[in-house]
Amino acid sequence: MAFTEIDHVAIAVRDLEAAIAYYRDTFGAEVEHREFVESDGVEEALLKVADSYIQLLTPTRPDSPLAKALEKRGEGIHHVGYRVDDVAAALEQVKAQGHMVIDAAPRPGSRGTTVAFLHPKTAFGTLIELVQE
Ligand code: CO
Repeated sequence: MAFTEIDHVAIAVRDLEAAIAYYRDTFGAEVEHREFVESDGVEEALLKVADSYIQLLTPTRPDSPLAKALEKRGEGIHHVGYRVDDVAAALEQVKAQGHMVIDAAPRPGSRGTTVAFLHPKTAFGTLIELVQE
């Protein structure tokens, strides 16, 4: 397995519109894609940076994992998405090496991607998302 790109840096925010305005007005970063990911209970806005994205995330319901993360740790970096060619193979390798995963199998992500989350406990404290386009 090899990372081919940093796909996105995900940032948890309470006010999505205010965060979008901040990145636009301060850095000129424009929204390229918006999506409700109902299974995760989040709304996201993707802002293009070269071949990567800033992913602004806000919870859509109080029981979503992101709402709990915001309550516990406040706003800020939530996870890093790394692009790989084959998320299923990458996930199998991670599991074979004995590392903890959140998703036992790949699942649909936003903008038509396939993703799998790895557990921060065995990833030096970072929630890692593998992303296949
Ligand atoms: Co993500």
